[in-house]
Amino acid sequence: MASAHGIECSLREDVLGSGVPGLAFPNQALFHPRRYLATLVSRLEGNGSYVFEQTDAHEISQDPVGVRVGKHVVSCRDIIVATHTPITGLASTWGAALFQTKLSLYTSYALSARIPAGLIVGGLYWDTGDPYSYLRVERKNGYDLAVFGGKDHKTGQADERDSLNRLCAEFSDWIPKARIEYCWSGQVVETSDGLPYLGAVDDHQFIATGFAGNGMTFGTLGGMMAAEWVAGIKSPWVDAFSPARKIHRGGTWDYLKENKDYPFLLVKDWLMRGRGETLEDLHPGQGRVISYRGKKVAAYRQPSGDVLPCSAVCTHLKCTVKWNDLERTWDCPCHGSRFRPSGEVLTGPAEEPLPSVRPVEEGP
Ligand code: FES
Repeated sequence: MASAHGIECSLREDVLGSGVPGLAFPNQALFHPRRYLATLVSRLEGNGSYVFEQTDAHEISQDPVGVRVGKHVVSCRDIIVATHTPITGLASTWGAALFQTKLSLYTSYALSARIPAGLIVGGLYWDTGDPYSYLRVERKNGYDLAVFGGKDHKTGQADERDSLNRLCAEFSDWIPKARIEYCWSGQVVETSDGLPYLGAVDDHQFIATGFAGNGMTFGTLGGMMAAEWVAGIKSPWVDAFSPARKIHRGGTWDYLKENKDYPFLLVKDWLMRGRGETLEDLHPGQGRVISYRGKKVAAYRQPSGDVLPCSAVCTHLKCTVKWNDLERTWDCPCHGSRFRPSGEVLTGPAEEPLPSVRPVEEGP
């Protein structure tokens, strides 16, 4: 298939000594994402072009078109929403909720490690498993740097610490001389048919999301398409990536599969609402959902020992959040929203914080 489309590739009988065959794609470009971004920013032309870092966009308004940032509004003619999970923007709440069902948020894990120089030929390796694993190896001064990742799961639906531990253990078993230096997790947005959504959703609004871990490629493509859209040029890719497209071949089953969680988790929450744990043994830095006076409360014990309570009901579509002990966040298993221990939104689709509730009385 790849050769039929003019993409050079060849069959390897045994990839990385695994005994499993694979395809090799030679002459791939390799670039540094942060240097790439820094160069793009340095080439902004001025004349009213600005980059504001550490600045949350809270709301998109329609009349006049603008973006609210705290107490300020940045007015503009067109808006490009490239916020990972799109904020509701100019679409109706129902339209936004429906669009959200086409996106699935997964938590993914990665580690970086020093490995003996020359042990593995430099390059990027990935498998087609589910969840899949990938490995990137790069030559440094006197050693090789490996980045190994995978163990993806839908946000809020697995034990995060266990997932990361399994990733590290798998890598250490495979390369006993590896020295793991860093590990982390992040979220990826998947779509039902594997292609991102890049295109206009309103006269003045363009969205770019669903890169599924291929952000350097699709982010660049999305940037090119957005620039053409602003300039009134029709991109040849409009239909393939349209946010309004029918799901491409084979994606319908995935769409149904990804969305079966929501009603199931909502009913489960409702059935479990009478049961709850207590604050007993809740140590500083930990969180737990408890049932308190008939309500589900997300209780976080601060380092000072005081409990910070907020509602455990996700402000997106009312599922119950779950404590992520690895990263100290409240994660929603339904559509992947994440909140800080104090309830502020960390990532959407939820756009409102978990409301704080009256202090919980401890003890008998
Ligand atoms: S109910 Fe949708 S993210 Fe929580």
